[in-house]
Amino acid sequence: SPYLKGKATNFILDVRKTVSSTNTLAKEMAANKAPEGTVLIASEQTNGRGRMGRSFYSPATGLYLSLILRPKLSIEDSLLITTSSAVAVAKAIEKITNEDVHIKWVNDLFMQGKKVCGILTEASLNIENGGLEYAIVGIGINVNTKDFPSDIKDIAGSIFLDKPKNQPITSILAAEVLNNLADSMDKLTSKDYLEEYKKRSFLIGKDIYVLKEKKVFPAKAIGIDNRARLLVEYPDSTKEALTSGEVSIRTD
Ligand code: BTN
Repeated sequence: SPYLKGKATNFILDVRKTVSSTNTLAKEMAANKAPEGTVLIASEQTNGRGRMGRSFYSPATGLYLSLILRPKLSIEDSLLITTSSAVAVAKAIEKITNEDVHIKWVNDLFMQGKKVCGILTEASLNIENGGLEYAIVGIGINVNTKDFPSDIKDIAGSIFLDKPKNQPITSILAAEVLNNLADSMDKLTSKDYLEEYKKRSFLIGKDIYVLKEKKVFPAKAIGIDNRARLLVEYPDSTKEALTSGEVSIRTD
């Protein structure tokens, strides 16, 4: 198969039909000592979760998976997990669909101007050594969803609009995503992925709105630094490096 690279990986797959949230379950499993490489895959979520407490629409026409990692990383470097995962998934979707995939900082994947994938990384800190105890990378891909709820229908899209969702496509997609994730986790600190990430980032050079503490500030996105922070410049020429926790971005 052109999709399988024949790489040695050590994933342990746990495949379910409907779950509340693969991230919630993966967290429970990680807290109960599930090994690194454990992957929970579901075809539907009843309580899919997004960033900043939002929900993630997760009907049976998508692919939802969570990967348990136990990386030797400091909490400051945990953004690297997020950015490498975004690149890994973008490459997988591109390979399968032959469509360009762009990344909206931090972790939204866009195809033809629509958000087709969201990623939620959740980390648990080891209080004794200040490093990460585990990290969960949760990936939700809209494979063939046509009817989105009204609040997201203008921004959400699917990677296969014309093709019916079928088992081979979804499982090939899952295999490709996992292969790329294995690769990206190998190279987490090599910064290669950060370069790729920057190339795919479509906010850079754009006028945006930074939403901070419930206030809206117009700004220009001018770059992404080597810790994956978004660099913005305000109209008075002051600059700021933003981390994902503190802002959300509007592009309209
Ligand atoms: C976002 O767009 O804000 C992030 C969405 C992340 C969704 C995925 S689907 C698999 C995993 N389980 C969840 O509950 N969320 C993530």
